[in-house]
Amino acid sequence: MSRRIVAAVTGASGALYAVRFVKACLEGGVDVDLVVSEYGNRLLIEELELNLKTESVEAWLDRTYGPSKRAGKITRHSPNDLGSSIASGSQRWDGMTVIPCSMKTLSGIAHGASSNLIERAADVTLKERRPLVLVPRETPLNLVHIENLRSAALAGAAIVPAMPAFYQKPKSLEDLADFVAGRVLSLLGVEHRLFAPWEG
Ligand SMILES: Cc1cc2nc3c(=O)[nH]c(=O)nc-3n(C[C@H](O)[C@H](O)[C@H](O)COP(=O)(O)O)c2cc1C
Repeated sequence: MSRRIVAAVTGASGALYAVRFVKACLEGGVDVDLVVSEYGNRLLIEELELNLKTESVEAWLDRTYGPSKRAGKITRHSPNDLGSSIASGSQRWDGMTVIPCSMKTLSGIAHGASSNLIERAADVTLKERRPLVLVPRETPLNLVHIENLRSAALAGAAIVPAMPAFYQKPKSLEDLADFVAGRVLSLLGVEHRLFAPWEG
């Protein structure tokens, strides 16, 4: 059976992390349930010129990187649809990431607000004891952010700050984004070859 990952994109800087993550999933045969917040859409437009109202992620990937074989498929969900399949624990999915994760959505997840589909799917992912990986992006952090990160971690979320490493000697923004996307994939149990493991 193919694997199924929920990927939520919120309005923090770093839209490239999201599309590199989705690209790796699709090329690895992983199906992606994609939910993008209103401000997530704005950041996709501002940072990547990807307008999901007029272009699909797949078309953007082809336009930007050239065509590639993608065994996985994307299912889109509205962030306002709390009746969507991924709002219920009776649906099976293998894990979820919020990439990038704004401080606002972090707060909603840390407090169990479930006020939109992203917060609700994260809530369900935690209650069903499935892996949830948050990729927060903000700097500097205030104590509210730090406490919310702590609460989310105590509830079972893995925190992968959008902090790429430089020991891989990145040559492009994609290399930097792939480092973070790869760490998320590993935590979700998805094999990838986005970067070579550190050999020491
Ligand atoms: C250009 C732009 C960049 C932003 N960057 C960040 C960011 O890096 N981190 C963050 O927490 N919020 C950032 N924000 C603010 C969030 O988008 C805002 O708090 C929004 O309400 C988040 O909603 P969402 O989590 O539903 O997407 C940014 C907003 C804009 C317009």
